[in-house]
Order: sequence, then structure tokens, then C-alpha cells
Amino acid sequence: MQGETLKTLVEHALAAIAVADFPTLEELRISLLGKNGKVTALLKSLGGMEPEARKAAGAEINAAKTRIAEALAERRAGLEAESLAARLAAERIDVTAPPRPAPRGAIHPLSRTQEELAAIFSAMGFIIAEGPDIETDWYNFSALNIPAHHPARAMMDTFYLRAPETARPPVLRTHTSPVQIRTMLDWALDEGLKDQPGPIRIIVPGRTFRADHDATHSPMFHQCEGLVIGHDITLAHLKGCLIDFLRAYFDVPQLPVRLRASYFPFTEPSMEVDIGWNRQTGQIGEGTDWLEIAGSGMVHSNVLANCGIDPRRFQGFAFGVGLERLTMLKHGINDLRLFYESDVRWLRHYGVSPLAPASLHEGL
Ligand code: PHE
Repeated sequence: MQGETLKTLVEHALAAIAVADFPTLEELRISLLGKNGKVTALLKSLGGMEPEARKAAGAEINAAKTRIAEALAERRAGLEAESLAARLAAERIDVTAPPRPAPRGAIHPLSRTQEELAAIFSAMGFIIAEGPDIETDWYNFSALNIPAHHPARAMMDTFYLRAPETARPPVLRTHTSPVQIRTMLDWALDEGLKDQPGPIRIIVPGRTFRADHDATHSPMFHQCEGLVIGHDITLAHLKGCLIDFLRAYFDVPQLPVRLRASYFPFTEPSMEVDIGWNRQTGQIGEGTDWLEIAGSGMVHSNVLANCGIDPRRFQGFAFGVGLERLTMLKHGINDLRLFYESDVRWLRHYGVSPLAPASLHEGL
């Protein structure tokens, strides 16, 4: 009777264990082998038996307990193996899958032009100089030989900042030329350099500002200034430097370059720099048309004197180019405003891979 009950108990238990999940398995363990479990209760009942009967029943019950404990352990191991296998399958990384293209940024065409200019001019021994966007009237105008009521001030559509009535208001620099002044002053102030002057050879790429806004003008735009000062610098150096630069930048070895007499208060003589192109097709270096690309000239003796440099001992040349203009011509971009709209479609189209080397200086 006892034997039958025990046998049924074990059979039912084994059947239930075989299909149990983790929580059910734990419930079964408690209800069978726990402190108040069925098998535990049977073991407790041994105490009230006759020694002979107890011996037989004890062996049976202990054997049943062992089978159930083994079955529980086996089922637990099985469940653990299954869940591990499921996780391994779910979390598997397919190393053979093709890589998803990483989102790739591009260099803005204006930054690219700056890099190219830096590469071209550094190959000619120039270094980069910088100055502030907000300038004093003196650096932006007066020191550059543009006196207080000179009409050239009106040409520049200057943004003035608020200032006390008595003072000349600061300006958003209308050109990169004030950095000429800053550089020459530093140079002249350095007594060592004054006695044994190494040449000044700088380019100044940077932001400039004028109150002007249409398809070809933006109130904020970029220029690159160039300045060379030394003992024997002549107009021939200016010419050679600009021709080399423009041919390298546009990658047209025979690019026609023309200097045309002009006027800037801070240079004398002054020249506009034109390049040959075909107005119809926009092809640089083709056709018979001329396109103005830069302002230039020999640094005016008043400007040298304003910076404490003796014009009888030193002379030099300067030039200024518009970076947007250079970029638009090279890449066939016809609306200046797109440069500043941050439209990723435009940037993707006109931007350059950061990994592409600035190639032009290699040709110099
Ligand atoms: N600063 C002049 C401009 O903005 C350009 C220039 C620079 C001309 C240097 C001559 C020499 O128009």
C-alpha cells in the first residue's frame, strides 16, 4: 500500500519534472523535497514505525527522494543549456555580414579652399597669420592710409559697433588687410628683427564683413590676404607669386594672368589681377575673356611708416582674394548663399572627403 503510493508519487513527480520550466521546477522541488514537502513528510512518518518496517520503508523512500532530486537536477541542467543556446543564437554577431557604411562627414568647400591656399603658400615659404573679427577704426582704415573722410571708407559698407559718442566705433573688419598692420607692427617692434630682418611672408585667411547681400555678396564672407616685406621685394615678385598661386589653385599650368592698373589707398602702384576664362562656358584658362580675381599692389610707403618700418629700407607687396569667389569658380557653384545654409545635400555634393589629400601643392 505504502509502496504503491510511493510509486505513483514518484511517477507523477518525474512526469511533471520532465516538462517543467524554471519557476514550475522550483515549485515542484518545494512541494516534494521542501520542509513541508510530500517526500519529507513520508520520511518523517518513519519515526512511528516498527524497526523492521521502518528499515524497508526507509530504503524505499530514500531511493525515491534520490531519484526525484536527480530528476530535478537533470531538468535544471537541461533548461540552463537550452537558455544558453537560445542566447548564443540570438546574440550571435555575423562577422561575414557586409559593413553598414558609417555616416561620413565632408569638408566644407570653403574650408577646403583655405587648406589648398595654405598648402600652396606654405610651399612658397608663407606662414598663416590671424587677427580679430572686430577691429578698431585705426587698424581697419587709418593705418592702411584710409583717412577719416576718405571716400574709400564708403566703398566698404562697414558694419559699425556701438560706442560712446566721443570715440570712433569699432568695426567688423571689412577686409583681412588690418592683419597686415598687426603683423608689421609686431615685426617692427621686435628690435632683433629690425636689425636683421627676416622677411615677412604671411597669408591671412579669415572672415570679413560688409553690409551687402545678394546672390554674389554675403554680409559675412572670407578673404585671404597676402603680405611680403623685405629689402629687395619688387613688383616682379608680386607677379610671379600670384601667377604661381593662381595656376596651382586652378590646376591650369598655362593659365593667363593679367595685372591691370587700379587703386587701393594702401598700395602704390595698385593692380587688379585678372585670369583668362570663357565667360560663356565658365571654363577657367580657356577663351578670350578676363575675370577679376584679386586686388594687389606694392605696400604704400605711408602704411610702412605707420607701422614703424622705414620705407627707404624695406618694401613689399600685398594682395587680397575672396575665398568664396575662388571656390565658386573652381567648383562651378553659382549662388553664394548656399555656402552658409548648412544644407547637408549641398554639403554632400560639394564637400570633400576628409581623407582626400590637398593635392595642389604637390605640383609646385
Ligand atoms: N583689401 C582689399 C579689398 O578688400 C584687397 C587688397 C588687399 C588690395 C591687399 C590690395 C592689397 O578689396
